[in-house]
Amino acid sequence: MLEGKNVNLRVAEKEDLPLLSEWFNNPEFAGRYNPLDAQESKTDIEKRYEKLGSEKVWFLILKKDGSRIGYLGMGLVGPYWEIGYVLVSSERGKGYCTEAAQLAVDYLFMSKDIVRIQATTHIENIASQKVLGKAGFQREGRIRKGLFAWGNWADLYLYGILREEWKEPKILKVLEINHRVGY
Ligand SMILES: CC(C)(COP(=O)(O)OP(=O)(O)OC[C@H]1O[C@@H](n2cnc3c(N)ncnc32)[C@H](O)[C@@H]1OP(=O)(O)O)[C@@H](O)C(=O)NCCC(=O)NCCS
Repeated sequence: MLEGKNVNLRVAEKEDLPLLSEWFNNPEFAGRYNPLDAQESKTDIEKRYEKLGSEKVWFLILKKDGSRIGYLGMGLVGPYWEIGYVLVSSERGKGYCTEAAQLAVDYLFMSKDIVRIQATTHIENIASQKVLGKAGFQREGRIRKGLFAWGNWADLYLYGILREEWKEPKILKVLEINHRVGY
């Protein structure tokens, strides 16, 4: 479990799959700036889940009371890690995703020897652009017609954060470990 101030990130377990399946099949969950993904059976979602490994991880975004309010995925794309996230509509606009993205950045830079994390977002998705900006990402460019969403091709902005721009954990609670000889 990755612990922040108001939210935690927990790796998705098998018992989360019914909820994830409900979310992934609900067009309102993805919102209008994400592709209207293929409707997927629980079995197909289970198959995707079984294939996850060290290069692709699904996290649940949890409030401190343990309630599951969203999804954050991360995966290796070429030499970089990329993140993506969605919150249930009733929990948007409360700063939760900003924290979730910060936790993801802290975790990736602390657990992997990588120099860069990236994300893309629909050019009209202001909320997501603010999340990325507050999590330390910079806008690096525009990907023309990079996304087919709701019957139209749309442009994406590419965002990235480099390790030297991150420097130290911003939100992830870091253990204080006493190093003792022989302990
Ligand atoms: C995008 C999303 C993840 C943002 O998460 P969130 O927890 O609501 O974001 P935050 O509360 O941290 O808010 C971020 C900022 O965006 C602003 N914002 C929220 N909704 C907004 C909207 N519809 N239009 C403009 N700004 C908005 C907030 O006021 C906040 O601004 P501030 O930095 O000036 O305070 C969430 O809205 C969502 O799940 N949307 C649908 C799925 C999606 O688009 N995912 C991202 C794909 S790239």
